[in-house]
Amino acid sequence: MAPISLATPHAGSLAASLAQSLRIAERRAADGATAVFRTDVVFGLSQPQKAVPPKYFYDETGSRLFDLICRLPEYYPTRCELEILKTRAAEIGALAGPRASLVEFGSGSSIKVRLLLDAMDKPAAYVPIDISGPHMRAAVARLAEAYPGVAMVPVEADFTQAVRLPPLGEGRRVGFFPGSTIGNFTPQAATAFLAHVGDVLGPGSALVIGFDLAKDHAVLEAAYDDRHGITAAFNLNLLARINREVGADFEPGGFRHRAFFNADESRIEMHLESVRKQEVCIGRHHFAFARGETIHTENSYKFSAAAVLAMVRHAGWRQRVLWTDPKGWFAVAALERDGEGR
Ligand code: AVI
Repeated sequence: MAPISLATPHAGSLAASLAQSLRIAERRAADGATAVFRTDVVFGLSQPQKAVPPKYFYDETGSRLFDLICRLPEYYPTRCELEILKTRAAEIGALAGPRASLVEFGSGSSIKVRLLLDAMDKPAAYVPIDISGPHMRAAVARLAEAYPGVAMVPVEADFTQAVRLPPLGEGRRVGFFPGSTIGNFTPQAATAFLAHVGDVLGPGSALVIGFDLAKDHAVLEAAYDDRHGITAAFNLNLLARINREVGADFEPGGFRHRAFFNADESRIEMHLESVRKQEVCIGRHHFAFARGETIHTENSYKFSAAAVLAMVRHAGWRQRVLWTDPKGWFAVAALERDGEGR
């Protein structure tokens, strides 16, 4: 039988039906994700303190707004962390060792990872794990051009859930969790997540992770309520997303952005505050809002060095070092997991 070439009508119809199966599978996955989103929103808005999980900020618009936030003069974490990573790049490269695989949890635009890839000795693979597929794939395409020798293995997934890593090479597995995203978990969930990362990466692995440190309240509050209103747009975009994806009827202008430091909990809280008494519907669910009532959308915990050490130990990691920037505003920890490395 003649080999099937891509030019034959047979191969054409095979390719078309494969593409259609793929589209159906993608549509089913998207429908499933929308159903979970709807359940989370309905559940969150039914609580005495209404809340929506911050992971839903990151649709395409939210991801773009977050990239803008990272460049704001008020939003110091990105700059401070980059400064630390640049200064400590050689030490991180040595920690990783030759032919290591770098696994980034919640990779976003994959910008900081370049500093690590540049400093590593022949990195074998880069495995970004992110819920925002299109944003991640675009970032990986840019990286692949710059690092042709590094295998790019993107994983589209919620990095807080069980993830199985693809088979990787013999070098060390090095996790990367920058930006102090760990601060968006409750302390209990943060410890559980760090233990989960240890399980995903396996014995002998390392983890490079950013922690935002407690500091002057005015500096903190300005970082989450910038004068250009970008963080406000990022927060409010959540309502536009809920309207579009789960059919809610939040009115534009019905809510305003609020961000403040809660000193008792050592965290910035972001809320969406109802500007008037109103009702919002999602299908048969009706949610009444008093004037001034809020939807709690995010916590961003701010740590002390002692709190970091206690948490990572509790999660089964050994803290090799904690670097800070010259102002002491941000910290990057290098952690290791006991056991035989791969
Ligand atoms: C992703 N995360 C670490 C950011 C933070 O600072 O908590 C999210 C953010 N929210 C408002 N600005 C930035």
